[in-house]
Amino acid sequence: MKKTIKDVNVSGKRVIVRCDFNVPLDEKGNITDDSRITASLPTIQYLVDKGAHILLLSHLGRPKGEADMKYSLLPVAQMLSGVFGSDFMFYSSPFVVDDEAKRVAAHLGPGQIMLLENVRFRWEETKNEPSFSRELAGLADIFVNDAFGSAHRAHCSTAGIAEYLPGVSGFLMEKELEFLGNTVENPKRPFLAIMGGAKVGDKIPVIENLLNKVDALIIGGGMAYTFLKAQGYEIGRSLLEEDMTNMALSMLSKAKVRGIRLLLPVDVWAAKEFSNDAEKICCAIDSIPPDYMGMDIGIKTVELFGKEIENAATIVWNGPMGVFEMPEFAKGTKAIAEKLAENEGTTVIGGGDSAAAVRQFGFAGKMTHISTGGGASMEFLEGKVLPGVAALMDR
Ligand code: 3PG
Repeated sequence: MKKTIKDVNVSGKRVIVRCDFNVPLDEKGNITDDSRITASLPTIQYLVDKGAHILLLSHLGRPKGEADMKYSLLPVAQMLSGVFGSDFMFYSSPFVVDDEAKRVAAHLGPGQIMLLENVRFRWEETKNEPSFSRELAGLADIFVNDAFGSAHRAHCSTAGIAEYLPGVSGFLMEKELEFLGNTVENPKRPFLAIMGGAKVGDKIPVIENLLNKVDALIIGGGMAYTFLKAQGYEIGRSLLEEDMTNMALSMLSKAKVRGIRLLLPVDVWAAKEFSNDAEKICCAIDSIPPDYMGMDIGIKTVELFGKEIENAATIVWNGPMGVFEMPEFAKGTKAIAEKLAENEGTTVIGGGDSAAAVRQFGFAGKMTHISTGGGASMEFLEGKVLPGVAALMDR
């Protein structure tokens, strides 16, 4: 168990908080999904209420180790300013920390908040250079890591800084560790994992780890076709990772040996073209025409997967069931999201596309937890130790 901000005295202290404000922006620089910012607010508000002097850090996008105003945290600052009003200020320097930043930070009053510029404007950040970690640490007495989404990065602001300051988790970090960690380690059973998305290669380590824990595993989405092909089905022009077929067979046999129900699609919606307007047919997996590609799970598969979801007490879902960006092929993913929303057990959504799908279909409020981490939640579910978590003090 990691220490949290509740385990240390933050009143009147200078507290530096790493958030993950790496939010998607449209071409005009408007935030298109502010859920990561919203998820950070309880920690910031707690520190305000305790009268801490608060410094916020984050990255945004992947600037190349120097200031590039396209990646300025200004849009985030505008939103935070709307929430915290005159207690909030944004200090935008191309150097992130400079003498003026230090002076302003030193004069913050209790409950006042200062956001520094994108930490990736400094080349040292992603190299975890001690000099920049020390510079950041010099601004505060306590380090709070609330950036679960960046906890898989060993950077100055996520890990290095904790070499110089006592590090504790914020409320969001604590919640993520509880739901992705504790729920997966000590699940109420039956425990079901649902894996989808396009690439088998990306998900193999997660599947391998989850096969030690789950009672049932559903595999849908683009990656299912590699599993089907490995079993000898003709999959037409569906997505195939040929070099992963042996791995897929090994996963299937591991599941069998361990007595885990592994469910694959029994039918799919297939189309001749990768287009929303393409003519589509629902066909059993042993009759996908050679010139068609699978785009979504079929009607019988939704029923089959749905029953498994109904019976589960704990569910972890990562990856859509089909090309959900196209409305015609979003129905399978939507049906699965709806089934999860109806489940009264614990439902945890790994970040990335499945989180986006759940929000898009309006079921976000019905899930127990939606992770703010994409890569981080994957690495965590693989059973890896995340540097941004390891750096924090143990209880
Ligand atoms: C993410 O969006 O996954 C995190 O913010 C980490 O961003 P990165 O992949 O650029 O390190």
